[in-house]
Amino acid sequence: MSKKPLILGIETSCDETAASIITENEQGNPIILSNIVSSQVNVHKEFGGVVPELAARSHVEKINWIVQKAINESGKKITEIDAVASTAGPGLVVCLSIGLSFGKALAASINKPFIAINHLEGHALSPRLISNLDYPYLLLLISGGHSQFLSVEGLGKYKRLGTTIDDALGEAFDKTAKLLGVAFPGGPQIEILAKNGNPNRYNLPKPIFNKGGCNLSFAGLKTAILKIAKNIKTEKEKFDLAASFQKTIEEILYKKTKIAFRDFENRIKLKEKIFVVAGGVAANKKIRSMLINLCEEKNYKSIFPPIELCGDNAAMIAMVGLEKFKLKQFSNLDYPAKPRWSLDEEAAFLKGAGVRL
Ligand code: KG4
Ligand code: ZN
Repeated sequence: MSKKPLILGIETSCDETAASIITENEQGNPIILSNIVSSQVNVHKEFGGVVPELAARSHVEKINWIVQKAINESGKKITEIDAVASTAGPGLVVCLSIGLSFGKALAASINKPFIAINHLEGHALSPRLISNLDYPYLLLLISGGHSQFLSVEGLGKYKRLGTTIDDALGEAFDKTAKLLGVAFPGGPQIEILAKNGNPNRYNLPKPIFNKGGCNLSFAGLKTAILKIAKNIKTEKEKFDLAASFQKTIEEILYKKTKIAFRDFENRIKLKEKIFVVAGGVAANKKIRSMLINLCEEKNYKSIFPPIELCGDNAAMIAMVGLEKFKLKQFSNLDYPAKPRWSLDEEAAFLKGAGVRL
């Protein structure tokens, strides 16, 4: 039996300090030996969003013990690690720099290769951590930092079909929650409030609903909610606004996902139609069941990876590291942090926020 690579992944792009050790079995399928994530929700709660400087301080305080814990839980020794992979972007530059520097220093100290990873590539490949998933598949990534439809066609082969032109969907949930006086991160709370409300009470805008292909936009919604929230006097009105927001998001995602299916099918000849939904917002039960129904209607197989693998984590970073290690795609120790780093080089050069409407 040949020795299988042992990869340490490190993730500090936003408000999660994470480390993971993975390897693979004889069939080449990844095995997660440890996956440690320390969230900073409590650090940022009172500010209603992530404060970059506080996030960076927290990473500095935690990074050493999180990495130690990942190594201990894997049952391996630090000297057995074959490569260290750290997120280099996109994300908050002050946060990225911490995991990046720590990873480089650790790799140098054990005399092993260092591999810089695109965080979005981690999300794109994360479903392969749990299922023997063949390329290509369509990924909808909906989290606090990203909202995009991505055609995942192989390692290093990604085509962005659509993206948000302003706020990420999780951000829209969190901002709405803040306007309704709910603590950060408000997404899960909005879902709970919405259960008791009338979704038809408020008619909210659906930005770029009838244009822009499968691109998304949520900033206009926030402005509309701000105006309504100012005049809210009763709990009932609050529930109704949460329910109306939730319903509007479902309608936007239903329509835009249908367009993304069409674009995906036009782009590639498919043996099997596969749709993967990742990111924290995928935890929303109503969004989930709406998307599952849509997949049944359009003959897609739907995959929702467990939240610990589709929220920010380091196993997905180690997973890309493992693939790159096998191809000897190593990075130099002067590799920079890249706060903006599109997975799809072509998309990176489009106008404005990266989208042509
Ligand atoms: O992927 P994730 O865990 O991490 C980052 O983006 O860093 O996503 C977190 C986002 C937050 O904006 C949170 O409010 C949202 O996912 N979220 C939800 C739900 N659970 C988490 N949004 C709507 N409904 C939920 N049930
Ligand atoms: Zn992420």
